[in-house]
Amino acid sequence: KPLVVTIDGPAGVGKTTLAKRVAQALGVAYLDTGAMFRVLALRLSPVDADTPSGEIAAALSGLDFSLRGVGADTALLADGAPVGDEIRTEAVAYAASTLATRPEVRAFLRAAQQRLGRDIELVAEGRDMGTVIFPGAAHKFFLDATAQVRAARRVEQLAAMGKPADHAAILADITRRDAQDRTRAEAPLRPAPDAVVIDTSDLDIDGVFARIMATIAP
Ligand code: C5P
Repeated sequence: KPLVVTIDGPAGVGKTTLAKRVAQALGVAYLDTGAMFRVLALRLSPVDADTPSGEIAAALSGLDFSLRGVGADTALLADGAPVGDEIRTEAVAYAASTLATRPEVRAFLRAAQQRLGRDIELVAEGRDMGTVIFPGAAHKFFLDATAQVRAARRVEQLAAMGKPADHAAILADITRRDAQDRTRAEAPLRPAPDAVVIDTSDLDIDGVFARIMATIAP
């Protein structure tokens, strides 16, 4: 059975950065499952809670995901084309979160994610990797931090890139998406019973990375 490491947690907790680094260190592929929800959201946009099932089914039919490469450079391909930064907006993220409440979407992506993890070793990042998608994963992590801490970090990142950042607006976005991800009926965001929960509030990326690697390869 190929090695699978899962990293789950709320929006803005650092999952993507860490999953890439862990994948790079282990020499395995990296799977960003949030990107899969985002790709679908972008194809369907605009999306809301009333988007008809028929429209969703049409967008899903024939949608094919694959991975290319390993480590931090792993590329996610949708229908053979690399997924780009066009999915990295808060509007797409919230639409993805709304779609993620729909059972037919979760069922489709569950099958796609499990297929990707069947043959290759990977670090998989998302909300339900440890609970639903890869319950038998060798190592499971759940990263957490308060919404306040996550918003403050995001403001810092944006400031470092010279971009304006409104702390209150970012906090509102994070809180709204958290609420939807934690309260949905199917696969709500929560740690798997056997996950190592890491409170990242007082740790930087290097600190969290060290904790994860010490658990995987002590
Ligand atoms: O991780 P990311 O912020 O890119 O995910 C976007 C949205 O997709 C999340 O807010 C969540 O609702 C959904 N998602 C999910 N299950 C996953 C990954 C993402 O429900 N495994």
